[in-house]
Amino acid sequence: MNAPTAWWQRGVIYQIYPRSFQDSSGNGIGDLQGIINRLDYLNDGTPHSLGIDAIWISPFYPSPMADFGYDVSNYNDIHPLFGDLATFDRLVAAAHQRQIKVIIDYVPNHTSDQHPWFIESRRSRSSSKRDWYIWRDGRADGSPPNNWGSFFGGPAWTFDETTGQYYLHQFLREQPELNWRNPAVQDAMFDVLRFWLERGVDGFRMDVVGLILKDAELRDNPINPNADPNLPANDLHSRLEHVYNGDQDEVHPIMRQFRQLLDGYSERVAIGELWGPLPRWVRYYGDNGDGLHLPFNFRLMDETAWSASAMRAAVDALEAALPAFAWPNYVLGNHDRIRLATRFGGQAQARLAAMMLLTLRGTPTLYYGDELGLENGIISPEQLQDPQGINLGVERTRDVARTPMQWDAAPHAGFSTTTPWLPVSLDYQARNVAVQDAAPTSILNLYRQLLWLRRQSPALHNGRYQPLAVHPDCFVYLRQAGSEQALIALNFSDAPCTISIPAAQPHQVILSTHLDREEGVNLAAVTLRPFEGVILTPCHPDTIILTPC
Ligand code: GLC
Repeated sequence: MNAPTAWWQRGVIYQIYPRSFQDSSGNGIGDLQGIINRLDYLNDGTPHSLGIDAIWISPFYPSPMADFGYDVSNYNDIHPLFGDLATFDRLVAAAHQRQIKVIIDYVPNHTSDQHPWFIESRRSRSSSKRDWYIWRDGRADGSPPNNWGSFFGGPAWTFDETTGQYYLHQFLREQPELNWRNPAVQDAMFDVLRFWLERGVDGFRMDVVGLILKDAELRDNPINPNADPNLPANDLHSRLEHVYNGDQDEVHPIMRQFRQLLDGYSERVAIGELWGPLPRWVRYYGDNGDGLHLPFNFRLMDETAWSASAMRAAVDALEAALPAFAWPNYVLGNHDRIRLATRFGGQAQARLAAMMLLTLRGTPTLYYGDELGLENGIISPEQLQDPQGINLGVERTRDVARTPMQWDAAPHAGFSTTTPWLPVSLDYQARNVAVQDAAPTSILNLYRQLLWLRRQSPALHNGRYQPLAVHPDCFVYLRQAGSEQALIALNFSDAPCTISIPAAQPHQVILSTHLDREEGVNLAAVTLRPFEGVILTPCHPDTIILTPC
């Protein structure tokens, strides 16, 4: 296998949810100028900053905000809440000055119902844009054309009085789905990519890209026999197996076209939001690596068991499924899932997860605020913003992971000068960038050290991965590039764990998740504290040594 050399293989991606990162205009909503103001925090070229290599910015396009920007009404502009194209150009220039790449969200599956294309399409059955969306007659009894449900509750079809047909939307009714079987739609959406590539973006995160083609006959999905019997009555989606509403074989030629288009520019990355069983998921890399560069891998984020064996099994299954040309990647948090510190059970677990994410083979994506160990925000029913929570119940709201970034202990956590669109978490005075910056063993400083080490170490950003069966509670693996080695041992248990690894050379701990030891150790018996992770390297003159053995 060739050594990975592209920036998106070596580097670390940081997701910014722009509404929640930094408000510069004083309206309680984050914006692009706010991101510019915080770039030094992300990477100023020194180990003092976080040290990420790329930002992915969730949508900032004009939008009625029914789904907070994932309902785009103009793909080629910026919502005034976030700034304008000139601000965007300044953001790209300022990021590039700091060697930070800029990845933007591309929402190909659906537009807003306020997009001029849809307004025209719904006007009449003979509209020139009618076939740009998916319109069908109801069944004989007037019910929707098939049994598909929306991810956000209710049917995936809405009847439109004006023309007497239903249109398809697997999310909100305000998010009608484009008909990618129509070449004119493909051309228009490829032009969107060109528009942003010409503006200098370094890549795209493609929203629900596996859904863009549905079964040509729009057949009913089978009923899921294992569906949770306690689903809310309107959750029609989770009652079905998702066979016909996405992930169709015919989607892969379109992935190749995305790729070819990006390959016409230098060093741009195509990332896709994709789920599904490994054998189907892996196809998005293309038959010979001619598909997407990185189909997002959510397997560790979706792992419900917090255990060394479950994590190792997920990593090993991925490694085994990847052809040699396919580069792995890992995601532990994003704007659609509850916060990782909450999901994995607390701060100690969040620190261990950070070490795992940043030492596995593959590109890591971090979610803003996870570097502070942010936990789920507390959102009362009156404060709900997310349509998923409003429609399916407060326990399904994604608002909990979208609360404002906590910069300092000032009112509104330094995020804004006024009340933010979602409440700042209650712990902001104790948990924020300023406090953690000054605390040598904070989780922020752990992230910084992990990122810095990863950048310096070819074994970590580039080396092969070899798991070692050492202890059932510990996930232990070796990373190796040439003569450089790093041994990672992660104790997933809440009890101490002593591991023994046969090794000829003396080793040393170069980083512990507790940030309190750098010392020589005897690999015959290394004791890890509860939820402690360590990176060990041989005591060898060529290894990166923070303190000598
Ligand atoms: C993706 C986005 C999510 C959005 C949905 C519809 O899953 O990550 O936030 O609601 O697509 O666009």
